[in-house]
Amino acid sequence: MAEADRDVQKCFEVALELVNQAGKIISDRNDSRKSFVCKGGDIDLVTETDKEVEQLLINGLKNIFPSHQFIGEEESADGVTAKLTDAPTWIIDPVDGTMNFVHGFPHSCISIGLVIDKVTEIGIVYNPMLKQKFTAIRGKGAFYNDKPINVSGEKDPKKALVTTEFGTTRDPAKLKVVMENFAKMAALVHGLRTLGSAAMNMVMVALGAADCNYEFGIHAWDVAAGDLIVREAGGVVIDPAGGEFDMMSRRVLAASSMELAQEISKNLTQFYPQPRDD
Ligand code: IPD
Repeated sequence: MAEADRDVQKCFEVALELVNQAGKIISDRNDSRKSFVCKGGDIDLVTETDKEVEQLLINGLKNIFPSHQFIGEEESADGVTAKLTDAPTWIIDPVDGTMNFVHGFPHSCISIGLVIDKVTEIGIVYNPMLKQKFTAIRGKGAFYNDKPINVSGEKDPKKALVTTEFGTTRDPAKLKVVMENFAKMAALVHGLRTLGSAAMNMVMVALGAADCNYEFGIHAWDVAAGDLIVREAGGVVIDPAGGEFDMMSRRVLAASSMELAQEISKNLTQFYPQPRDD
């Protein structure tokens, strides 16, 4: 593989240009109700825009980096997620928060991460409706619309604003855990929010606007970019049971401090999704 294929700065610039183009497609279409088809179940949605944006991003990146690999949400819609290897791999959610996009609720984003040798080098999360662009390159800090950002540093659950999601399934066993955790968090933390986009939830922790985010059932494309952005903003990303984060495990907990992460983790009922079971 040519050295240029691992030039992270060049990768970042190419990805950012494509994300700007793709963002225009999404924001131009946000203001109306969209037709959709259901993927895994009746609340796991995909629109023509998800597919078009994913193709724009993948084709654009392939053109410049022909040897790179891709793990894309819509490419994986047949239930098969490509394995993460050491090759430079772009992990892409073309529209994270598809339910919001379908309704014109302006909290959706493009989420794109670049992983090389299984280490995340680039994270970009862009909500084009609200012009919120979050970026990070490993070791170079995190940025919101080009300004450096930091997590809040909050350690106390009682003062923490926490985000989570209902997820994209009505499976009773999963919903039972979700509701149990809602009840536990409502009693423990300062406030509880669901934005409807896993990636947006994570970057709110990076921005210091929220202090913690957890979810069971996410996919690598929902969290690859957010993970790096949170860590580059000084936060921590762990497994919700307290161990090391694995972006392929479908479980995530991001927080403004390790103390807060561990305290929230201790209070959560755990759920272990199957690899392709939402
Ligand atoms: C979903 C959203 C949702 C979260 C799910 C994600 P999608 O992504 O982020 O808020 O609860 O876990 O899969 O399907 O809108 O790209």
